[in-house]
Amino acid sequence: MTRPPLDPGSAPSSTDPDPSAPSRGALSGRRVLLAVTGSIAAYKAVLLLRLLKKAGAHVEVLLTDTAQRFVGAATFSGLGAPVHDDMFSAPGELHVTLGQRADVLLVAPATADVLARLRQGRADDLLTATALCLRGRLLLAPAMHPTMWHAPAVRENVALLQARGAELIGPVVGEVASGDSGMGRMAEPEEIVAALTHSLRSDASLGGRHVVVTAGPTREPIDPVRFLTNTSSGKMGFAIAAQAARRGARVTLIAGPVHQPTPAGVERLDVGTTEEMRSTLWSVLGDDLQGADALVMCAAVADYRPRTAAEHKLKRGDELRLDLVPNPDLLAEIGAARGGTTPVLVGFALETGDDDALSASARGKLQRKKVDLVVANAAAESLGRDDNRVLLVTDTETTPLPTLPKEAIAHQLLDWVGARLDALTAPPADVTPGPVDSSTEGTP
Ligand code: CTP
Repeated sequence: MTRPPLDPGSAPSSTDPDPSAPSRGALSGRRVLLAVTGSIAAYKAVLLLRLLKKAGAHVEVLLTDTAQRFVGAATFSGLGAPVHDDMFSAPGELHVTLGQRADVLLVAPATADVLARLRQGRADDLLTATALCLRGRLLLAPAMHPTMWHAPAVRENVALLQARGAELIGPVVGEVASGDSGMGRMAEPEEIVAALTHSLRSDASLGGRHVVVTAGPTREPIDPVRFLTNTSSGKMGFAIAAQAARRGARVTLIAGPVHQPTPAGVERLDVGTTEEMRSTLWSVLGDDLQGADALVMCAAVADYRPRTAAEHKLKRGDELRLDLVPNPDLLAEIGAARGGTTPVLVGFALETGDDDALSASARGKLQRKKVDLVVANAAAESLGRDDNRVLLVTDTETTPLPTLPKEAIAHQLLDWVGARLDALTAPPADVTPGPVDSSTEGTP
């Protein structure tokens, strides 16, 4: 059924802003549909509701059947939120109404089961049917045992949901209900509210820009069935491409062989060898490099390739010697060819040393490859992981970031790229003295 908030005197109608909320919170005027599903972390959804309301959001709560085995509707309605738990309790089509009026559907906690059901596009309960009618954003705060989170089926479901535009908040590494530790604990309510606020911030900061991103490894054939490559997963580059598209940029993603779904709104060009990546890059950027406003060179380009690839499969013998020749440094070529300041060039550096070594090597690359920013990361803290700890190195400063999810690093990086582009295209300050405005006379 649909329950109004317990105190009808302060109850918001479904179309009015929440009168019990502060009028000027970060989420003021935003409509959040908080869907709670059947995980022990459901008890944290109560605090989440309070924080969302405190931030000024108008919140309605949707409870699945299993959620109600953990926490009851009265707890949420007692906090002043209308609660919905039955598709057929109200006249009309509740799932359509809820899906169309929410700015964001926040599923917290999101169980492995609900991720699978959302991925499938089921419509056999109020939550899944509402998700199919959603016009706003879908934010998922997963909570489950780490073994479940790492299960291939869950990984696939999450990847597909993200590719369709769903945003993930957590999970985080920590202790879960069983007492085990690992990645699977729901993000804390404060983090969820912060991420939701960030997501709803209307951001067209890269509108009108063309951002080119390279990602993943390159692959150099030895014979028709064997090749040289590296362990790059492509996650960082795909996260950057996804976030750049979310900021309004036109994004071209040149991807080596990786198993990552194409982010929404991104044009993806798949390549295999370094030479293919090189020719694709130059055809996208153009000979004068003016085809892009920014190039983020995240790919782990193979430094060497066999001088020749055997035409037929090599037979097993006593000893095999590979004759390797260096690949061109794609970023350095572009850095050397760039006459002015566009495109803005961002490179990555991966090292196995400590932070000082990392920073020194990044600074060396900055100068050698003639780029504007090098993102330096330690191999042990980045490869194949969902989070990373990086230093942002420019010719004037080194900024260490804490360990962050790759999406958050993408945000920081794109903040920097956006600011750089804005600075480059800002009209020069007018030095011609204009008529003196007496109201500002004397002010600096
Ligand atoms: N890169 C490139 N072409 C290459 C190798 C690297 O464009 N053949 C780019 C990468 O995409 C990355 C940056 O250069 O942005 C640094 O890559 P890395 O492999 O760390 O640099 P190297 O110069 O190969 O490192 P080193 O010389 O220290 O081995």
